[in-house]
Amino acid sequence: MVLSGPRRNSVKTAHPKDGDMSETGDPPSPAGIPILGNGLAFSRDPVRAMESWATHGDLVRLRFMDESLYMVTHPELIKQILVEDQHKFTIGPEQQQSFEGIEDAAMTTATGERWKRLRRASHPACTRESITSYGDRMAAVTARFIDEWDEGERFALHPEIRRLTVQILAETLLNEDIRGQEDVVIEAADAFVDRTNFRRPGQLLPDWIPTPTERRFRRAVQHLDTFVEDLVAERQYAETETNEDVCAMLLAAHEDGELTRTEVKQNLVAFLLAGHESPSGALTHVWYLLADHPDVYESLCEEYDQVVEGDRPTIADYDALEYTQYVVDETLRLYPPTTGINRQATESVTLDGYELPPAAQFLIPQWVPHRDKRFWDEPEKFVPDRWTRSVDRPEYAYFPFSGGPRSCIGADFARQELTLALATMVGHVTLDVTTDGPLTFIPSIQLRPATEITAEVHHR
Ligand code: HEM
Repeated sequence: MVLSGPRRNSVKTAHPKDGDMSETGDPPSPAGIPILGNGLAFSRDPVRAMESWATHGDLVRLRFMDESLYMVTHPELIKQILVEDQHKFTIGPEQQQSFEGIEDAAMTTATGERWKRLRRASHPACTRESITSYGDRMAAVTARFIDEWDEGERFALHPEIRRLTVQILAETLLNEDIRGQEDVVIEAADAFVDRTNFRRPGQLLPDWIPTPTERRFRRAVQHLDTFVEDLVAERQYAETETNEDVCAMLLAAHEDGELTRTEVKQNLVAFLLAGHESPSGALTHVWYLLADHPDVYESLCEEYDQVVEGDRPTIADYDALEYTQYVVDETLRLYPPTTGINRQATESVTLDGYELPPAAQFLIPQWVPHRDKRFWDEPEKFVPDRWTRSVDRPEYAYFPFSGGPRSCIGADFARQELTLALATMVGHVTLDVTTDGPLTFIPSIQLRPATEITAEVHHR
Protein backbone atom coordinates (compact mmCIF):
# COMPACT_ATOMS: atom_id res chain seq x y z
CA MET A 1 0.00 0.00 0.00
CA VAL A 2 1.38 3.39 -0.91
CA LEU A 3 1.25 5.65 2.10
CA SER A 4 2.41 9.00 0.99
CA GLY A 5 0.51 11.37 -1.25
CA PRO A 6 2.08 14.09 -3.36
CA ARG A 7 2.96 16.32 -0.40
CA ARG A 8 5.49 13.89 1.03
CA ASN A 9 8.53 12.22 -0.37
CA SER A 10 8.64 9.00 1.66
CA VAL A 11 6.75 6.52 -0.47
CA LYS A 12 6.89 3.24 1.38
CA THR A 13 4.73 0.24 2.09
CA ALA A 14 2.85 0.39 5.38
CA HIS A 15 2.96 -3.27 6.25
CA PRO A 16 5.59 -5.11 4.27
CA LYS A 17 4.41 -8.65 3.64
CA ASP A 18 6.41 -11.55 5.02
CA GLY A 19 9.57 -11.85 3.04
CA ASP A 20 9.52 -8.22 1.90
CA MET A 21 12.89 -6.60 2.19
CA SER A 22 13.06 -3.86 4.78
CA GLU A 23 14.42 -0.52 3.75
CA THR A 24 18.02 -0.22 4.77
CA GLY A 25 19.22 3.01 6.33
CA ASP A 26 17.29 5.56 8.22
CA PRO A 27 14.06 7.42 7.55
CA PRO A 28 14.52 11.00 6.34
CA SER A 29 16.00 13.26 8.96
CA PRO A 30 15.07 16.95 8.92
CA ALA A 31 18.12 19.13 9.54
CA GLY A 32 18.70 20.40 13.07
CA ILE A 33 21.43 22.47 14.65
CA PRO A 34 24.63 21.23 16.31
CA ILE A 35 24.15 19.79 19.82
CA LEU A 36 20.45 20.64 20.23
CA GLY A 37 19.40 18.93 16.98
CA ASN A 38 15.71 19.51 16.25
CA GLY A 39 15.00 20.61 19.84
CA LEU A 40 15.52 24.30 19.13
CA ALA A 41 12.86 24.44 16.41
CA PHE A 42 10.45 22.61 18.73
CA SER A 43 11.11 24.98 21.61
CA ARG A 44 10.50 28.02 19.37
CA ASP A 45 7.20 26.85 17.89
CA PRO A 46 6.19 23.23 18.50
CA VAL A 47 3.37 22.99 15.98
CA ARG A 48 5.19 24.70 13.10
CA ALA A 49 8.23 22.51 13.80
CA MET A 50 6.16 19.30 13.64
CA GLU A 51 4.44 20.48 10.44
CA SER A 52 7.75 21.25 8.79
CA TRP A 53 9.34 17.92 9.81
CA ALA A 54 6.31 16.08 8.39
CA THR A 55 7.01 17.50 4.92
CA HIS A 56 10.02 15.12 4.85
CA GLY A 57 7.88 12.01 5.18
CA ASP A 58 5.31 10.05 7.16
CA LEU A 59 8.08 8.67 9.33
CA VAL A 60 11.03 10.92 10.11
CA ARG A 61 13.97 10.64 12.41
CA LEU A 62 14.58 13.58 14.74
CA ARG A 63 17.40 14.33 17.09
CA PHE A 64 16.91 15.98 20.47
CA MET A 65 20.39 16.42 21.97
CA ASP A 66 21.92 12.95 21.71
CA GLU A 67 18.61 11.06 21.52
CA SER A 68 16.78 9.90 18.41
CA LEU A 69 13.04 10.20 18.18
CA TYR A 70 10.88 8.94 15.31
CA MET A 71 7.90 11.10 14.44
CA VAL A 72 5.02 9.17 12.86
CA THR A 73 2.22 11.03 11.09
CA HIS A 74 0.44 8.66 8.69
CA PRO A 75 -2.86 7.12 9.97
CA GLU A 76 -1.88 3.60 8.83
CA LEU A 77 1.45 3.75 10.67
CA ILE A 78 -0.25 5.25 13.71
CA LYS A 79 -2.78 2.41 13.72
CA GLN A 80 0.06 -0.10 13.43
CA ILE A 81 1.74 1.30 16.57
CA LEU A 82 -1.34 1.96 18.70
CA VAL A 83 -3.46 -1.02 17.73
CA GLU A 84 -2.17 -3.75 15.42
CA ASP A 85 1.35 -4.09 16.83
CA GLN A 86 0.62 -2.51 20.21
CA HIS A 87 2.22 -5.48 22.02
CA LYS A 88 5.58 -4.38 20.54
CA PHE A 89 5.37 -0.94 22.17
CA THR A 90 5.20 0.52 25.63
CA ILE A 91 4.81 4.09 26.88
CA GLY A 92 7.91 6.17 26.26
CA PRO A 93 10.49 6.96 28.96
CA GLU A 94 9.75 10.66 28.35
CA GLN A 95 6.25 10.11 29.69
CA GLN A 96 7.50 8.14 32.68
CA GLN A 97 10.16 10.73 33.48
CA SER A 98 7.82 13.69 33.25
CA PHE A 99 5.35 12.07 35.67
CA GLU A 100 8.14 11.03 38.04
CA GLY A 101 7.49 12.11 41.61
CA ILE A 102 3.81 12.70 40.97
CA GLU A 103 2.23 9.61 39.42
CA ASP A 104 4.89 6.89 39.89
CA ALA A 105 2.23 4.46 41.12
CA ALA A 106 -0.57 5.56 38.75
CA MET A 107 -1.84 3.96 35.55
CA THR A 108 -0.32 6.79 33.49
CA THR A 109 3.21 5.53 34.17
CA ALA A 110 2.60 1.81 34.72
CA THR A 111 3.29 -0.89 32.15
CA GLY A 112 2.43 -4.55 31.63
CA GLU A 113 0.31 -6.46 34.15
CA ARG A 114 0.52 -3.63 36.68
CA TRP A 115 -0.99 -1.16 34.20
CA LYS A 116 -3.81 -3.64 33.42
CA ARG A 117 -4.61 -4.00 37.13
CA LEU A 118 -4.64 -0.24 37.73
CA ARG A 119 -6.72 0.49 34.64
CA ARG A 120 -9.21 -2.29 35.50
CA ALA A 121 -9.74 -0.83 38.98
CA SER A 122 -10.68 2.60 37.54
CA HIS A 123 -12.76 1.28 34.69
CA PRO A 124 -16.16 1.10 36.50
CA ALA A 125 -16.08 4.90 37.00
CA CYS A 126 -15.72 5.41 33.26
CA THR A 127 -18.33 3.07 31.79
CA ARG A 128 -21.03 4.58 29.57
CA GLU A 129 -23.53 4.06 32.39
CA SER A 130 -21.44 5.86 35.02
CA ILE A 131 -20.65 8.72 32.66
CA THR A 132 -24.32 9.15 31.78
CA SER A 133 -25.05 9.41 35.50
CA TYR A 134 -22.67 12.42 35.75
CA GLY A 135 -24.41 14.33 32.92
CA ASP A 136 -26.87 16.51 34.82
CA ARG A 137 -24.18 17.41 37.35
CA MET A 138 -21.82 18.52 34.55
CA ALA A 139 -24.40 21.03 33.32
CA ALA A 140 -25.42 22.09 36.84
CA VAL A 141 -21.83 22.84 37.91
CA THR A 142 -21.30 24.85 34.71
CA ALA A 143 -24.54 26.82 35.24
CA ARG A 144 -23.56 27.62 38.84
CA PHE A 145 -20.04 28.62 37.75
CA ILE A 146 -21.08 31.06 35.01
CA ASP A 147 -23.84 32.48 37.15
CA GLU A 148 -21.12 33.99 39.34
CA TRP A 149 -19.74 36.00 36.43
CA ASP A 150 -20.71 39.69 36.50
CA GLU A 151 -22.02 41.44 33.42
CA GLY A 152 -19.06 43.00 31.57
CA GLU A 153 -16.48 41.10 33.69
CA ARG A 154 -13.18 40.43 31.88
CA PHE A 155 -10.73 37.66 32.61
CA ALA A 156 -8.01 35.45 31.13
CA LEU A 157 -10.12 32.66 29.67
CA HIS A 158 -7.94 29.57 30.07
CA PRO A 159 -7.27 29.92 33.84
CA GLU A 160 -10.98 30.57 34.42
CA ILE A 161 -12.07 27.52 32.40
CA ARG A 162 -9.56 25.42 34.30
CA ARG A 163 -11.31 26.24 37.57
CA LEU A 164 -14.54 25.12 35.95
CA THR A 165 -13.16 21.79 34.71
CA VAL A 166 -11.59 21.06 38.12
CA GLN A 167 -14.97 21.67 39.76
CA ILE A 168 -16.81 19.47 37.25
CA LEU A 169 -14.32 16.67 37.69
CA ALA A 170 -14.39 16.84 41.49
CA GLU A 171 -18.18 16.95 41.72
CA THR A 172 -18.74 14.08 39.30
CA LEU A 173 -15.87 11.62 39.54
CA LEU A 174 -15.06 12.31 43.21
CA ASN A 175 -18.46 13.50 44.43
CA GLU A 176 -16.67 16.32 46.29
CA ASP A 177 -17.33 20.06 46.22
CA ILE A 178 -13.81 21.51 46.24
CA ARG A 179 -14.68 25.12 45.43
CA GLY A 180 -11.94 27.42 46.70
CA GLN A 181 -9.37 24.64 46.62
CA GLU A 182 -9.01 24.29 42.83
CA ASP A 183 -5.55 25.88 42.99
CA VAL A 184 -4.08 22.82 44.67
CA VAL A 185 -4.79 20.88 41.47
CA ILE A 186 -4.08 23.75 39.07
CA GLU A 187 -0.69 24.58 40.61
CA ALA A 188 0.44 20.96 40.42
CA ALA A 189 -0.60 20.80 36.75
CA ASP A 190 1.20 24.10 36.05
CA ALA A 191 4.35 22.93 37.77
CA PHE A 192 4.16 19.70 35.79
CA VAL A 193 3.73 21.43 32.42
CA ASP A 194 6.53 23.83 33.37
CA ARG A 195 8.79 20.91 34.11
CA THR A 196 8.23 19.55 30.59
CA ASN A 197 8.49 23.00 28.96
CA PHE A 198 11.31 22.95 26.44
CA ARG A 199 11.82 26.67 26.83
CA ARG A 200 12.46 26.70 30.55
CA PRO A 201 15.97 27.49 31.66
CA GLY A 202 17.57 24.37 33.10
CA GLN A 203 15.49 21.98 30.96
CA LEU A 204 18.58 19.99 30.17
CA LEU A 205 19.70 19.62 33.79
CA PRO A 206 18.90 16.43 35.73
CA ASP A 207 15.79 16.59 37.95
CA TRP A 208 17.76 16.17 41.18
CA ILE A 209 19.29 19.64 40.72
CA PRO A 210 17.07 21.97 42.78
CA THR A 211 16.29 24.53 40.07
CA PRO A 212 13.41 26.95 40.86
CA THR A 213 11.16 24.90 38.52
CA GLU A 214 12.04 21.65 40.26
CA ARG A 215 11.50 23.19 43.72
CA ARG A 216 8.15 24.59 42.65
CA PHE A 217 7.20 21.20 41.21
CA ARG A 218 8.05 19.39 44.43
CA ARG A 219 6.13 21.93 46.56
CA ALA A 220 3.05 21.70 44.35
CA VAL A 221 3.18 17.90 44.30
CA GLN A 222 3.45 17.84 48.10
CA HIS A 223 0.34 20.05 48.43
CA LEU A 224 -1.63 17.88 46.01
CA ASP A 225 -0.48 14.72 47.77
CA THR A 226 -1.66 16.06 51.15
CA PHE A 227 -4.96 17.15 49.61
CA VAL A 228 -5.61 13.71 48.11
CA GLU A 229 -4.38 11.96 51.28
CA ASP A 230 -6.99 13.88 53.32
CA LEU A 231 -9.67 13.04 50.79
CA VAL A 232 -8.85 9.34 50.86
CA ALA A 233 -8.57 9.24 54.67
CA GLU A 234 -11.94 10.95 55.06
CA ARG A 235 -13.56 8.43 52.72
CA GLN A 236 -11.73 5.41 54.06
CA TYR A 237 -12.84 5.92 57.60
CA ALA A 238 -16.31 7.27 56.89
CA GLU A 239 -18.96 5.19 58.71
CA THR A 240 -21.18 4.81 55.67
CA GLU A 241 -19.97 4.73 52.11
CA THR A 242 -22.69 5.19 49.57
CA ASN A 243 -20.89 7.00 46.77
CA GLU A 244 -20.29 5.17 43.55
CA ASP A 245 -17.49 7.45 42.41
CA VAL A 246 -13.90 6.77 41.39
CA CYS A 247 -12.55 7.30 44.92
CA ALA A 248 -15.05 4.79 46.34
CA MET A 249 -14.25 2.33 43.56
CA LEU A 250 -10.49 2.57 44.04
CA LEU A 251 -10.88 2.19 47.80
CA ALA A 252 -13.04 -0.90 47.25
CA ALA A 253 -10.23 -2.33 45.11
CA HIS A 254 -7.83 -1.53 47.98
CA GLU A 255 -10.10 -3.36 50.45
CA ASP A 256 -10.07 -6.36 48.12
CA GLY A 257 -6.27 -6.30 48.13
CA GLU A 258 -6.04 -5.33 44.44
CA LEU A 259 -4.48 -1.89 44.95
CA THR A 260 -2.06 -0.49 47.49
CA ARG A 261 -3.08 2.71 49.24
CA THR A 262 -0.39 4.63 47.33
CA GLU A 263 -1.86 3.33 44.08
CA VAL A 264 -5.32 4.57 45.15
CA LYS A 265 -3.90 8.02 45.88
CA GLN A 266 -1.80 8.33 42.77
CA ASN A 267 -4.58 7.18 40.47
CA LEU A 268 -6.74 9.92 41.95
CA VAL A 269 -3.93 12.38 41.23
CA ALA A 270 -3.83 11.08 37.64
CA PHE A 271 -7.58 11.63 37.27
CA LEU A 272 -7.40 15.10 38.80
CA LEU A 273 -4.58 16.24 36.51
CA ALA A 274 -5.44 14.49 33.22
CA GLY A 275 -9.15 14.99 33.79
CA HIS A 276 -9.14 18.78 34.03
CA GLU A 277 -6.20 19.84 31.86
CA SER A 278 -7.20 18.66 28.37
CA PRO A 279 -10.91 19.53 28.66
CA SER A 280 -10.00 23.06 29.80
CA GLY A 281 -7.75 23.56 26.76
CA ALA A 282 -10.50 22.26 24.47
CA LEU A 283 -13.22 24.51 25.90
CA THR A 284 -10.90 27.52 25.72
CA HIS A 285 -10.18 26.78 22.07
CA VAL A 286 -13.90 26.43 21.29
CA TRP A 287 -14.46 30.01 22.44
CA TYR A 288 -11.34 31.20 20.66
CA LEU A 289 -12.70 29.73 17.41
CA LEU A 290 -16.25 31.01 17.96
CA ALA A 291 -14.91 34.57 18.13
CA ASP A 292 -14.06 34.36 14.43
CA HIS A 293 -17.07 32.26 13.42
CA PRO A 294 -20.28 34.09 14.37
CA ASP A 295 -22.26 31.78 12.05
CA VAL A 296 -21.19 28.76 14.11
CA TYR A 297 -22.10 30.57 17.31
CA GLU A 298 -25.54 31.39 15.85
CA SER A 299 -26.09 27.72 14.94
CA LEU A 300 -25.13 26.69 18.49
CA CYS A 301 -27.65 29.15 19.93
CA GLU A 302 -30.36 27.91 17.54
CA GLU A 303 -29.73 24.32 18.55
CA TYR A 304 -29.85 25.25 22.22
CA ASP A 305 -33.19 27.03 21.80
CA GLN A 306 -34.67 24.08 19.89
CA VAL A 307 -33.39 21.29 22.12
CA VAL A 308 -33.22 22.59 25.69
CA GLU A 309 -36.51 23.13 27.44
CA GLY A 310 -35.54 23.90 31.03
CA ASP A 311 -33.06 26.51 32.20
CA ARG A 312 -30.09 24.27 31.36
CA PRO A 313 -29.45 21.08 29.39
CA THR A 314 -29.80 17.67 31.00
CA ILE A 315 -28.34 14.34 30.00
CA ALA A 316 -31.61 13.63 28.16
CA ASP A 317 -30.65 16.42 25.71
CA TYR A 318 -27.18 15.05 25.02
CA ASP A 319 -27.89 13.07 21.85
CA ALA A 320 -30.00 15.87 20.39
CA LEU A 321 -27.18 18.39 20.88
CA GLU A 322 -25.66 17.10 17.66
CA TYR A 323 -24.27 20.33 16.28
CA THR A 324 -22.71 21.16 19.67
CA GLN A 325 -20.95 17.77 19.52
CA TYR A 326 -19.65 18.58 16.03
CA VAL A 327 -18.23 21.87 17.33
CA VAL A 328 -16.42 19.92 20.05
CA ASP A 329 -15.10 17.31 17.57
CA GLU A 330 -13.96 19.98 15.12
CA THR A 331 -12.19 21.92 17.88
CA LEU A 332 -10.37 18.76 19.01
CA ARG A 333 -9.32 18.24 15.37
CA LEU A 334 -7.87 21.72 14.93
CA TYR A 335 -6.48 22.06 18.45
CA PRO A 336 -5.78 18.62 19.92
CA PRO A 337 -4.95 19.27 23.60
CA THR A 338 -2.01 16.87 23.80
CA THR A 339 1.18 17.51 21.85
CA GLY A 340 1.47 13.86 20.92
CA ILE A 341 1.53 10.30 22.12
CA ASN A 342 4.80 8.74 23.26
CA ARG A 343 5.76 5.16 22.68
CA GLN A 344 8.91 3.06 22.87
CA ALA A 345 9.51 -0.15 20.92
CA THR A 346 10.18 -3.20 23.10
CA GLU A 347 11.63 -5.15 20.13
CA SER A 348 12.79 -4.29 16.65
CA VAL A 349 9.90 -3.16 14.44
CA THR A 350 9.39 -2.65 10.73
CA LEU A 351 7.59 0.56 10.07
CA ASP A 352 6.97 2.16 6.68
CA GLY A 353 9.52 -0.29 5.30
CA TYR A 354 12.28 0.68 7.73
CA GLU A 355 13.75 -1.70 10.27
CA LEU A 356 13.88 0.22 13.57
CA PRO A 357 15.82 -0.95 16.64
CA PRO A 358 14.43 -2.11 20.00
CA ALA A 359 14.01 0.84 22.39
CA ALA A 360 13.36 3.23 19.48
CA GLN A 361 11.25 6.12 20.74
CA PHE A 362 8.24 7.53 18.93
CA LEU A 363 6.28 10.77 18.93
CA ILE A 364 2.81 10.57 17.37
CA PRO A 365 1.45 14.10 17.16
CA GLN A 366 -2.27 14.51 16.46
CA TRP A 367 -1.75 18.02 15.06
CA VAL A 368 -0.20 16.83 11.77
CA PRO A 369 -2.66 14.13 10.57
CA HIS A 370 -5.57 16.24 11.89
CA ARG A 371 -4.57 18.92 9.37
CA ASP A 372 -3.29 16.76 6.52
CA LYS A 373 -4.71 17.71 3.09
CA ARG A 374 -4.70 14.08 2.02
CA PHE A 375 -7.49 13.35 4.50
CA TRP A 376 -9.30 16.65 5.06
CA ASP A 377 -10.80 19.26 2.72
CA GLU A 378 -9.56 22.72 3.64
CA PRO A 379 -8.00 21.33 6.82
CA GLU A 380 -7.11 24.75 8.26
CA LYS A 381 -10.75 25.83 8.30
CA PHE A 382 -13.10 25.46 11.27
CA VAL A 383 -16.08 23.67 9.71
CA PRO A 384 -18.21 21.75 12.27
CA ASP A 385 -20.56 20.72 9.42
CA ARG A 386 -17.84 18.50 7.97
CA TRP A 387 -18.81 15.97 10.66
CA THR A 388 -22.31 15.60 9.16
CA ARG A 389 -20.86 14.09 5.97
CA SER A 390 -19.63 10.57 5.84
CA VAL A 391 -16.20 10.66 4.25
CA ASP A 392 -13.96 7.73 3.46
CA ARG A 393 -10.91 8.66 5.49
CA PRO A 394 -8.52 6.45 7.46
CA GLU A 395 -9.56 5.88 11.06
CA TYR A 396 -6.39 7.35 12.56
CA ALA A 397 -6.58 10.61 10.64
CA TYR A 398 -8.45 11.73 13.79
CA PHE A 399 -7.46 10.47 17.24
CA PRO A 400 -7.48 13.23 19.88
CA PHE A 401 -7.91 10.56 22.59
CA SER A 402 -5.32 8.18 21.10
CA GLY A 403 -6.40 4.62 20.29
CA GLY A 404 -5.92 0.97 21.17
CA PRO A 405 -5.99 -0.44 24.70
CA ARG A 406 -4.06 2.45 26.20
CA SER A 407 -6.28 5.20 24.83
CA CYS A 408 -7.74 7.89 27.07
CA ILE A 409 -9.93 6.33 29.77
CA GLY A 410 -11.82 9.62 30.07
CA ALA A 411 -12.70 10.07 26.37
CA ASP A 412 -16.47 9.59 26.73
CA PHE A 413 -16.47 11.63 29.93
CA ALA A 414 -14.67 14.46 28.13
CA ARG A 415 -16.90 14.53 25.03
CA GLN A 416 -20.04 14.57 27.17
CA GLU A 417 -18.62 17.16 29.57
CA LEU A 418 -17.50 19.47 26.77
CA THR A 419 -20.84 19.21 24.96
CA LEU A 420 -22.98 19.84 28.04
CA ALA A 421 -20.71 22.57 29.41
CA LEU A 422 -20.61 24.35 26.04
CA ALA A 423 -24.39 24.15 25.59
CA THR A 424 -24.94 25.47 29.12
CA MET A 425 -22.60 28.39 28.44
CA VAL A 426 -24.14 29.19 25.06
CA GLY A 427 -27.60 29.21 26.64
CA HIS A 428 -26.63 31.73 29.31
CA VAL A 429 -23.70 33.88 28.21
CA THR A 430 -21.88 35.33 25.26
CA LEU A 431 -18.13 35.66 25.61
CA ASP A 432 -16.40 38.41 23.65
CA VAL A 433 -13.01 36.86 23.11
CA THR A 434 -9.88 38.80 22.18
CA THR A 435 -6.44 37.40 21.60
CA ASP A 436 -3.10 38.95 22.15
CA GLY A 437 -1.61 38.09 18.70
CA PRO A 438 -1.76 34.82 16.76
CA LEU A 439 -2.27 31.64 18.75
CA THR A 440 0.99 30.00 19.82
CA PHE A 441 1.67 27.12 22.16
CA ILE A 442 3.96 26.29 25.06
CA PRO A 443 6.41 23.60 23.87
CA SER A 444 5.54 20.94 26.42
CA ILE A 445 3.64 17.68 26.82
CA GLN A 446 0.31 19.60 26.52
CA LEU A 447 -0.56 22.00 23.68
CA ARG A 448 -1.39 24.81 26.07
CA PRO A 449 -2.00 28.26 24.57
CA ALA A 450 0.97 30.57 25.18
CA THR A 451 -1.04 33.49 23.82
CA GLU A 452 -3.23 35.38 26.27
CA ILE A 453 -6.92 34.82 25.44
CA THR A 454 -9.22 37.30 27.19
CA ALA A 455 -12.98 37.06 27.52
CA GLU A 456 -15.63 39.64 28.38
CA VAL A 457 -18.92 38.28 29.71
CA HIS A 458 -22.39 39.27 28.57
CA HIS A 459 -25.37 37.40 29.97
CA ARG A 460 -27.95 36.36 27.39
C1 HEM B 1 -10.48 16.70 25.63
C2 HEM B 1 -10.14 15.95 26.66
C3 HEM B 1 -9.10 14.88 26.68
C4 HEM B 1 -8.15 14.53 25.74
C5 HEM B 1 -7.92 15.15 24.37
C6 HEM B 1 -7.38 13.44 26.29
C7 HEM B 1 -6.34 12.79 25.64
C8 HEM B 1 -5.60 11.75 26.18
C9 HEM B 1 -4.49 11.11 25.50
C10 HEM B 1 -3.99 11.46 24.11
C11 HEM B 1 -4.01 10.16 26.34
C12 HEM B 1 -2.77 9.28 26.11
C13 HEM B 1 -3.16 7.92 25.60
C14 HEM B 1 -2.01 7.09 25.09
O1 HEM B 1 -0.88 7.16 25.62
O2 HEM B 1 -2.24 6.34 24.13
C15 HEM B 1 -4.81 10.21 27.57
C16 HEM B 1 -4.62 9.39 28.66
C17 HEM B 1 -5.35 9.47 29.82
N1 HEM B 1 -6.43 10.30 30.07
FE1 HEM B 1 -7.22 11.65 28.77
N2 HEM B 1 -7.86 13.16 27.55
C18 HEM B 1 -8.92 14.00 27.82
C19 HEM B 1 -9.71 14.01 28.96
C20 HEM B 1 -9.57 13.17 30.02
C21 HEM B 1 -10.46 13.10 31.15
C22 HEM B 1 -11.72 13.96 31.32
C23 HEM B 1 -9.97 12.15 32.01
C24 HEM B 1 -10.53 11.68 33.33
C25 HEM B 1 -11.79 11.71 33.62
C26 HEM B 1 -8.76 11.63 31.41
C27 HEM B 1 -7.95 10.67 31.98
C28 HEM B 1 -6.86 10.08 31.35
C29 HEM B 1 -6.04 9.05 31.98
C30 HEM B 1 -6.17 8.54 33.42
C31 HEM B 1 -5.10 8.66 31.01
C32 HEM B 1 -4.02 7.59 31.16
C33 HEM B 1 -4.60 6.29 30.60
C34 HEM B 1 -3.65 5.11 30.63
O3 HEM B 1 -2.43 5.29 30.66
O4 HEM B 1 -4.16 3.97 30.61
N3 HEM B 1 -8.55 12.25 30.19
N4 HEM B 1 -5.78 11.19 27.43
